[in-house]
Amino acid sequence: MIRKYVFGKPFETDAVVMEMENRDGLPEFGEISLENGFSFTCTMEKDDIVYGLGEANRGINKRGFCYISDCTDDPNHTEDKNSLYGAHNFIVLAGKKNVGFFFDYPSKLIFDIGYTDLDVLKVSCEKADLKLYVIEGESPYDIVKQFRKMIGRSYIPPKFAFGFGQSRWGYKTKEDYRKVREGYRKNRIPLDMIYMDIDYMQDYKDFTLNEENFSDFPEFVQEMKEDGIRLIPIIDAGVKIEKGYEVYEEGVEKGYFCKRADGSNFVAAVWPGYTHFPDVLNADARKWFGGWYHVLTDQGIEGFWNDMNEPAIFYSEEGMEEFKAVLRENSTMEEENPAVAIGDKMQALSNNPADHTRFYHTVNGEKICHKDVHNLFGYNMTRAAGEAFERIAPDKRFLMFSRSSYIGMHRYGGIWTGDNKSWWSHLLLNLKMMPSLNMCGFLYTGADLGGFGADTTRDLVLRWLALGVFTPLMRNHSDLRTREQECYQFGDTEDFRQIIETRYRLVPYLYSEYMKAALNDDLYFKPMAFVYPEDEIAVRTEDQLMIGNEVMIAPVYTQNAKGRFVYLPERMMLVKFTGDSAVYQEVLEKGIHYVEVALNEVPVFIREGKCIPVAASAQTVAELDTKHLTLMGFDGAEYALYEDDGVSKDYENPENIRTLSGALLLFEK
Ligand code: GLC
Repeated sequence: MIRKYVFGKPFETDAVVMEMENRDGLPEFGEISLENGFSFTCTMEKDDIVYGLGEANRGINKRGFCYISDCTDDPNHTEDKNSLYGAHNFIVLAGKKNVGFFFDYPSKLIFDIGYTDLDVLKVSCEKADLKLYVIEGESPYDIVKQFRKMIGRSYIPPKFAFGFGQSRWGYKTKEDYRKVREGYRKNRIPLDMIYMDIDYMQDYKDFTLNEENFSDFPEFVQEMKEDGIRLIPIIDAGVKIEKGYEVYEEGVEKGYFCKRADGSNFVAAVWPGYTHFPDVLNADARKWFGGWYHVLTDQGIEGFWNDMNEPAIFYSEEGMEEFKAVLRENSTMEEENPAVAIGDKMQALSNNPADHTRFYHTVNGEKICHKDVHNLFGYNMTRAAGEAFERIAPDKRFLMFSRSSYIGMHRYGGIWTGDNKSWWSHLLLNLKMMPSLNMCGFLYTGADLGGFGADTTRDLVLRWLALGVFTPLMRNHSDLRTREQECYQFGDTEDFRQIIETRYRLVPYLYSEYMKAALNDDLYFKPMAFVYPEDEIAVRTEDQLMIGNEVMIAPVYTQNAKGRFVYLPERMMLVKFTGDSAVYQEVLEKGIHYVEVALNEVPVFIREGKCIPVAASAQTVAELDTKHLTLMGFDGAEYALYEDDGVSKDYENPENIRTLSGALLLFEK
């Protein structure tokens, strides 16, 4: 049961699609204060668990820390950080009583989940203008499903997006891209996508191509496609200020950029230098900005990633003026510690909250300060693209994912989890974040495999890829200032080929489970607790996940480990994949097992009585032979396979489901 309460005059975020009556009065659950902004407080029982928050730090159980929804471009995702790139304000309090809350509030919102007081949950924000949805249900899983229904169907990518993608900041020329292609094809490592980071553009100008390197871009897109590879360009939020640049000129002329209080266009420095931000919260400006994606789709492009859309600000014009003043004040070097004053001011230039008070959106004729709707920018930039794709080719799916997001954006695209580091702890963070993201509607997600920042190691890339085998978005991406980490950069490529081949072998299953989750407002990744709620150990296990209805995964996330302990809440079949080579299988009883996992192996645990379809590997998703699938699992099990053309939107066609039976690998019950 869902109840909706409206406080003050909330900004319409369009996060929720379900029509609902407003309730009078206050929710029975917890206490609400409308003095000094808004706060909601309730007590938690000793063993209550709190789920949700999507893209957030730490564990699946959010209890014991303070999380702040405040979309932030911070590449240092250390454990102490309260905010990452997304704002996903949905939580579920689970215990004797189960209740979910969605705080539909587009600005900074603080979730103190037993941080100040272990037994108290307090959610607060500066203005008492918001919608609160209170969802009751029989279990946290049931609440999540009700919530997902309420926010509308998750984005569905084209099937090729379930292939593997290689990315790196720094590829510039056609030769760079060809080198990547050769690196993969020569070594027979499957690959479907190569991502184009900012250097494909002319001077980092959105919707342009570097004139010297890509004068014949459509031919190059075609050349790659002939090898089964799609190029996926990045689009950044800031539009470069440059006379004669069409996007800039037109945006200024139509008044579609974010404005200062005095009506002038707000100026922020990002990769291209000084830029203006398209006012994507304004429906006309959104339509206009989305319209530009055409420039690239016309040349054969079928997917994009939207970046820097928190929006990231290196410094604003105002910030730079303030910094210069501090420089002048300290220029005599007579003050105490001038370097500290200068250093502090310089540090405060980037992503400075003060800048959020300096620009405005125009929504339905009204001026709205950015600070009050800060968390909606990435969402609406991606919505601009999603709405544009509907106009460009209504029956076709495009690949789209974003860095910044708010709930509601899950209908238009996926997300990647931003600039992580080549740290083992971030592999584990990736694993734990996935079910929380799914709860908030974001199904097409994944992290930069191998780690974005810092130098990686061969074993970390392999272990991380082995987790990436299961994330719908499977992409190796890194910072240009780090050690190269394409799969052919570490000498012998055999282990890499086997891990990625395993992904391709599993694509029919993973895609089928993704589609079922999307079409039924369900989860692709579930915490163990959602499947085994009566099992105390399973409920508290956060380094293993359930996928779909058949599978459990338990990736290795420790350097030099030869395997790991795995908890089986029921009897399961362990299948270790080694690409297209032989698979190892064994039935394990309920309990704790030490499972050895070599660097080239991917273990899958199939639940008692279930089976999964497995294909022979191929170099691309399109080449997979899904007519000849092998069932692996328990004797007599059946599997309902969802399969469609992977491009069009005929999702409900009953012919998309076929039942497979007769497991090939037989085991005693
Ligand atoms: C940001 C993105 C990263 C990208 C870089 C350059 O840091 O998060 O993925 O490579 O910008 O465009």
